[in-house]
Amino acid sequence: MSIVLRTSPEDKYETSIELYKGKYSSVCTAKLKNSPGESTVVIKRNTVSNYSLNEIKTYKQLNNSEQFLKVYDVCGKYTLVFERCMCNLEDLFMPQLVYPEEQKNLALQFLSGLNAIHQKKLVHRDIKMRNILMTYDGILKICDFESVCDNDSFPTSNIGTRGYKPFEILISTSTLPVTYSLDLWAAGVILFKIFTQNRKFLTPSPPCDETDIQMMTRMFGCPTGPYYESLPGYPEYYKWASSYKKNNIRENLVDWMSAHTMCEVDLVEKLLQLEPSARCTAFELMNAQSFFVQPLPSVNLKEAIKRYMQATKITRPPPHKAELFDFKTLNPNYSKSSSGTGTSGTSGTGTSGTSGTGTSGNSSGSGTSKSSSQQESGQKGVKK
Ligand SMILES: Nc1ncnc2c1ncn2[C@@H]1O[C@H](COP(=O)(O)OP(=O)(O)O)[C@@H](O)[C@H]1O
Ligand SMILES: [Mg+2]
Repeated sequence: MSIVLRTSPEDKYETSIELYKGKYSSVCTAKLKNSPGESTVVIKRNTVSNYSLNEIKTYKQLNNSEQFLKVYDVCGKYTLVFERCMCNLEDLFMPQLVYPEEQKNLALQFLSGLNAIHQKKLVHRDIKMRNILMTYDGILKICDFESVCDNDSFPTSNIGTRGYKPFEILISTSTLPVTYSLDLWAAGVILFKIFTQNRKFLTPSPPCDETDIQMMTRMFGCPTGPYYESLPGYPEYYKWASSYKKNNIRENLVDWMSAHTMCEVDLVEKLLQLEPSARCTAFELMNAQSFFVQPLPSVNLKEAIKRYMQATKITRPPPHKAELFDFKTLNPNYSKSSSGTGTSGTSGTGTSGTSGTGTSGNSSGSGTSKSSSQQESGQKGVKK
């Protein structure tokens, strides 16, 4: 697969702070060469071409719409130049920083972005707090499209990040077809975290002997019924898990979300359904009651952004004054190739970088930007 080789990013941009280094990519702030002031863009270099092409093709399909990063440049097969965001959602959730009406705004923006992905018949496959970014204007952006694949496709590996994988993926000993329901479970985890600001929900932190499946079974009980019983690997699972009665998830959520109204519990419950086909779509949830009762979603997140910038002492970089990348300029062979190449993936091992998102960038562009939050291990599932 060939794409137009544009100038290398080094010809055009000078990089400054490394925000993230993982197994499959590195992300750093950058600015146009010889321009004054702070870095205005972010350069992401992927190391695996199929992941990278998957990501580029997905951005092409998403066409610079609201809930996705603006793309300013695509350099060769591996490098994308994006608008620079303020932080990811994991970093944003400092105690008491985001108020209930702002949480609802965030939830709505997130559901709208997820719905846009699903409308394109794509499944993200790695929805998590660190793959959701926040701009300096309070616009939520879903990012990291390396693992995307078509709905109803059959990848050769189950991928995703610990703490965001649904039961069926953890129980099944063979790969399951990829459907929206995979993202919808992860969306339930995201909404729970947005409302409760409990970053550790379903994320086992070391030292911890529990495996993910043990933790999920302890929290939700042992799933039963025809769907689960037909999964490969279920009999072995059932042998040890049957002593954990199937829990009433609603009762648990009421308990875990005791500071919240039933409307918010309803919203999360509609996604954290054990049966994949029972999970509501992102579109349906955008009309959930929670968004029409007090406190109504805030109109914007300007105040939350101000509080975050004060708390972290960051300043806003100047806007990047350049045209968005014109995806039509990509080589036609490249453009024609189908989307969602994640249908035949080999499993990778964890992406293990700490994320930082410019939280300590200042006007001189100095400082470290590593997140204090715990590392998450993820797997990419696109064929290398
Ligand atoms: N445009 C951006 N602005 C600010 N930070 C970003 C941007 N893109 C990525 N990051 C930071 O880099 C991290 C990793 O980016 P991501 O695209 O998820 O890479 P990977 O595919 O390796 O997981 C994100 O969690 C975020 O903290
Ligand atoms: Mg990521």
